[in-house]
Amino acid sequence: MSETLTPQSPAETVRPILIARELSKYYAVSRGFLRGHATVKALNNVSFELAPQRTLAVVGESGCGKSTLARQLTMVETPSGGSLNIDGTEVATANASERKKLRPKVQMVFQNPYASLNPRKKVGTQLEEPLLLNTDLTAQQREQRVREMMTRVGLRPEHYHRYPHMFSGGQRQRIAVARAMMLNPEVLVADEPTSALDVSIQAQILNLFMDLQQEFGTAYVFISHNLSVVEHVADDVMVMYFGSAVEYGTRQAIFEQPLHPYTRALMQATPAIRAENRKTRNRLQGELPSPINPPSGCTFHTRCPYANDHCRAVVPELRPIAGRLVSCHRVEEILSGSITATNVPKN
Ligand SMILES: Nc1ncnc2c1ncn2[C@@H]1O[C@H](COP(=O)(O)OP(=O)(O)OP(=O)(O)O)[C@@H](O)[C@H]1O
Ligand SMILES: [Mg+2]
Repeated sequence: MSETLTPQSPAETVRPILIARELSKYYAVSRGFLRGHATVKALNNVSFELAPQRTLAVVGESGCGKSTLARQLTMVETPSGGSLNIDGTEVATANASERKKLRPKVQMVFQNPYASLNPRKKVGTQLEEPLLLNTDLTAQQREQRVREMMTRVGLRPEHYHRYPHMFSGGQRQRIAVARAMMLNPEVLVADEPTSALDVSIQAQILNLFMDLQQEFGTAYVFISHNLSVVEHVADDVMVMYFGSAVEYGTRQAIFEQPLHPYTRALMQATPAIRAENRKTRNRLQGELPSPINPPSGCTFHTRCPYANDHCRAVVPELRPIAGRLVSCHRVEEILSGSITATNVPKN
């Protein structure tokens, strides 16, 4: 395992179940009539390792590439570059039968459970589908498994014959979680799984995720823009900006001492986060730049209170400092306190 790619964590001795190396995804987009095509670098050289029963939280604003990353990890799309290794198999070079074996190992839960469930099929039938496709269980055994899983996720097994619209939003997300867990996946990718739910329900669903992880040992990639949720569920945290990881480390490192100006700004914008982090005056200004016309140098420079000419010209590398990885030219100065957001020598 490469020391520069992974934050220090107790999981370092455990074989990772998923390894992403410099994963990238580019999309060709039309710029309109007569103006041809442009390339959007939705995901840029993202690397991480995930051990069983660990949770990597991926955070960042809308449009930073979180769902794009999810689509690469779940093999829904083919990355433009980099490599993905799942349970010891390289996805890019896997043959058809190896890929078929890999698919059930990575499952997905989406933000909107209603959109991911078929309104015309009974819930029990939908939960049985993964078993029907991937196992030799008899109809009776499948129904038994489904009823057990329904109970496990806090649903009543006698609701097996109900349709999705007969459940509340929180219950529907429990159904989606049950379906994702039916084949006991190695990795669960959850893309904003609680953001469409009432606040009162969110904590219940988060607790369900954590209970299931304890029971089944599943590794989670948990995507969220909500830092309070991330602090609750994460072992490791990857902060993304404009398609790239800008800070990656253990939850403790990131929440006790956020170092990248973008991480600090996100913390500042989250009312429930510890008061000491909010004291740093790093208000996030402006909008994300246009993805088809990215800024030169550090992509965060247009919004960064610390940016100088060097930042505007040179792309910063993700490098180890203070027990995590950070891509910021000025992180040493930020760490030592020699510059602050309100006192920035311009060069
Ligand atoms: N299929 C696609 N074709 C073209 N551009 C795309 C495509 N999918 C995503 N993008 C672009 O890639 C960037 C990242 O999008 P993505 O959906 O991954 O962000 P996100 O972090 O999931 O945002 P949100 O929090 O809103 O869900 C955006 O600029 C988006 O417009
Ligand atoms: Mg998304």
